[in-house]
Amino acid sequence: MNITQKTILITGANRGVGRALLEAALERGASRVYAGTRAAFQHADKRVIPVTLDVTNAAQIERVAQDVGALDLLVNNAGISLFDDLSDPGLVEQHLAVNFYGPYRLTQALLPRLAQAHGAILNVLSLAALAPLPVMPAYSISKAAAHSLTQTLRAYLVGQGVAVHAVLLGPVDTDMTRGFDIPKAAPDAVARAIFDGLARGEEDIFPDPVSRALAEGWRNGVVKAFEHEYASLLPASVARRGGDYTLAFTVDQTPQEAFRAINDVRGWWSGEVEGDTSQLGGEFSYRVAGVHYSKQKITESVPGKKVAWHVTDAQLEFVKDKSEWKGTDIVFEIAKQGAKTEVRFTHKGLASAFECYTNCSNAWGMLVNGNLRKLIATGKPQPSPW
Ligand SMILES: NC(=O)c1ccc[n+]([C@@H]2O[C@H](COP(=O)([O-])OP(=O)(O)OC[C@H]3O[C@@H](n4cnc5c(N)ncnc54)[C@H](OP(=O)(O)O)[C@@H]3O)[C@@H](O)[C@H]2O)c1
Repeated sequence: MNITQKTILITGANRGVGRALLEAALERGASRVYAGTRAAFQHADKRVIPVTLDVTNAAQIERVAQDVGALDLLVNNAGISLFDDLSDPGLVEQHLAVNFYGPYRLTQALLPRLAQAHGAILNVLSLAALAPLPVMPAYSISKAAAHSLTQTLRAYLVGQGVAVHAVLLGPVDTDMTRGFDIPKAAPDAVARAIFDGLARGEEDIFPDPVSRALAEGWRNGVVKAFEHEYASLLPASVARRGGDYTLAFTVDQTPQEAFRAINDVRGWWSGEVEGDTSQLGGEFSYRVAGVHYSKQKITESVPGKKVAWHVTDAQLEFVKDKSEWKGTDIVFEIAKQGAKTEVRFTHKGLASAFECYTNCSNAWGMLVNGNLRKLIATGKPQPSPW
């Protein structure tokens, strides 16, 4: 991925490697950089949007996932490293909370956005992920776990068009290595090398002199071959699954008529609809008692062309994970096809692996290809199909 004109979110963007990545992204023409920081942060460049983000805070992760619009690249950079000797389990938990669960939870929350953009994830790891630093076992364990997560996500997300990269960093001159009297790379040089590696599409990026020495051996080694061999065991249905459900139909009416009918949600989506269904920024809920509740925010509304809703809340009573829809996007694209109009419906993030996939995709078939199509054709509100 070349980051010019891309939207990026970087965690721990206020100092160290994260700050250097922020500056390098701006230098290379990123169109927008969400700077995730724990404390208040300001930047003179208008392309920088500060977001409060402690990666161990689930509520903040959720808020960021709601506030961030399109996203091409997630950089999981924030991290901690403390000396320990494995005698304190609390320290192991602390490292895992920031260095493993942080990237894991943030990635899950932002996945619909990244899949939508066919984007990428950069996980800033450490050479300690490959071989433990004995003076920092808790840190090493957390980075090894984050590396395994990176390898797994890489295999899982390829089918959704999301590339997952590991940055295997050696020593860099930041607060983290303040007490170490060893040669260290400059953060700005490292940041540039990370984006160069990303542009070259390297799965594993070795951006400093110490890590670079390992690059060739790692890439051609048995462990890498083993990773690829294991990844190929993933069922094709998962590896190739799109995270989306899509269908399309054509009608004789105009794009404007199709647009009006889509916005008239009560006229085609059976069930109880409450709220504003037609204005950009409006929110509405949809409820079928005992079966389905979801809340949608209108994130795009381009007359005659496009309508998009982000699902901000969901409670599906018929599946184990009742929030399967939460964080997904429902998109209607309208286009002229000769004398006719095509409406393409996509529920982005409605993955075939979801328990609700069969029921939900059947229901969309009846509601969209049935009810909505008839509403556009006749102008008359349609009754519930069940
Ligand atoms: N420096 C190295 O030699 C080296 C080597 C290998 C890997 N790495 C990795 O590179 C990444 C960046 O390290 P660095 O050297 O830039 O470290 P750093 O200078 O200590 O900066 C750490 C950054 O992470 C943020 N952070 C810590 N805990 C956080 C949390 N719970 N939520 C959100 N942000 C949090 C810090 O924010 P605050 O300012 O709020 O504390 C800070 O912005 C880390 O993942 C690190 O493990 C560094």
